[in-house]
Amino acid sequence: MPLLTGLMQRFSKERPFDGLTIAACLHLTAETAVLVRVLRAGGASVSLAASNPLSTQDDIAAALAVRYGIAVFARAGVDRRTYYRHIELALAGTSNGAGQAGHPSQAGHPSQAGELNQPSQSGPDLVIDDGGDLVNTLHTQAAALLPGVKGGCESTTSGVLRLRRMAAEGALAFPMIAASDTATKRMVDNTSGTGQSVIDGILRATNTLLAGKTVVVAGFGASGRGVAERARGFGAQVIVTEVDPVRALDASLHGFRVLPMAEAAPVGEVFITATGSVDVIATEHIAVMRDGAILANAGHFDVEIDVRALAGFAASVHRDVRPHVDAYDLGDGRTLLLLAEGRVVNLVAAEGHPPEVMDLAFGIEALALAWLAGNAGKLPAGVHEVPPDIDAEAAGLVLATVGTSIDALTPAQLSYRESWRIGS
Ligand SMILES: NC(=O)c1ccc[n+]([C@@H]2O[C@H](COP(=O)([O-])OP(=O)(O)OC[C@H]3O[C@@H](n4cnc5c(N)ncnc54)[C@H](O)[C@@H]3O)[C@@H](O)[C@H]2O)c1
Repeated sequence: MPLLTGLMQRFSKERPFDGLTIAACLHLTAETAVLVRVLRAGGASVSLAASNPLSTQDDIAAALAVRYGIAVFARAGVDRRTYYRHIELALAGTSNGAGQAGHPSQAGHPSQAGELNQPSQSGPDLVIDDGGDLVNTLHTQAAALLPGVKGGCESTTSGVLRLRRMAAEGALAFPMIAASDTATKRMVDNTSGTGQSVIDGILRATNTLLAGKTVVVAGFGASGRGVAERARGFGAQVIVTEVDPVRALDASLHGFRVLPMAEAAPVGEVFITATGSVDVIATEHIAVMRDGAILANAGHFDVEIDVRALAGFAASVHRDVRPHVDAYDLGDGRTLLLLAEGRVVNLVAAEGHPPEVMDLAFGIEALALAWLAGNAGKLPAGVHEVPPDIDAEAAGLVLATVGTSIDALTPAQLSYRESWRIGS
């Protein structure tokens, strides 16, 4: 992760987070561990909770706690109550240095929190969220901490949508930067990263052959487009479902067959949702699906496939017929295969995005957070875009690390671009 490694060196000199506490709620993966170390190098005390109970890599959580003294509150497979309890603890607890955390088996265990971490009286100065659960918990369960929060970053589209809804109601108490909305992040993370790793998750879970199969991708946004293109690259016949006519036209012009889900449901063999919406695969679709159909979700929350409806249909459910595959026997000769319990398949059944992707995504977040720290108090509460020069800087740094150089506008091109006098 050359961008983050470079930022670690730069931040250790510039110390943009000196004296600040940062509470983060992110998928607890190796790449996240590198981001946390960058923030620490910049002078921050960091506490970390998981943004999804199934994506936590326990060995990484333990390493962060034991080796780097980060206050980690996460363990794979915890129930919903513990998941939110961990977020509350991350909001309350920050670590003051290496060596305070305990044995790997204790990492992230709520009952150890008092021993492992120095509780912060005022809560975090900055936050990083992935999906909005930390910001939501701050406002609903820990509102006393709100006055101390200077702002934060949100990492994914679904989280930004939640923030915009909060801001529209006047409920968002501090500035949040929509890190997931930058052009570079959407291109590299949502499209290339999700495209590849979602297919990776499905293949690891099922070992199915995609060539010749009919794959239905719901949503042709930044993520769905990547998934559809990669599935086509494997030789699948790809159908796209959409609710937005512009995106549907875009899919059609890219050579995909566009159908309503009701028509795609009886013909699809693999279904992948990537919409950020709810009940995209619902009762009426499940009712007509083919035997052996595979259902996977790429969206942030486990709401896109109506798992409750699926369970309602099933005569019996066979859990973990392979890792991360549950077989729903519908009792009429059909069995549907649900991957990762309907949660984000690339993070549960595979390892999420490759490090190169997270290098850029987290590099943008680290730069944006440093910018926010330097401008604390100047931005009003609400959702803000990442300053375009940060986006360009991150893209330029990545190009530089892979040895790619690009042209620069000549003075004549610059003046041509800025002039309205020159025509044909
Ligand atoms: N798995 C990952 O690693 C990963 C990475 C990035 C984003 N995400 C998540 O993926 C989801 C999509 O993100 P995005 O950036 O592509 O969003 P986006 O807004 O760019 O695209 C979503 C698309 O889904 C369409 N849509 C909405 N409801 C629909 C429905 N009922 N049927 C069909 N299409 C529908 C929208 O019109 C839009 O075109 C979000 O939940 C986001 O948080 C996941």
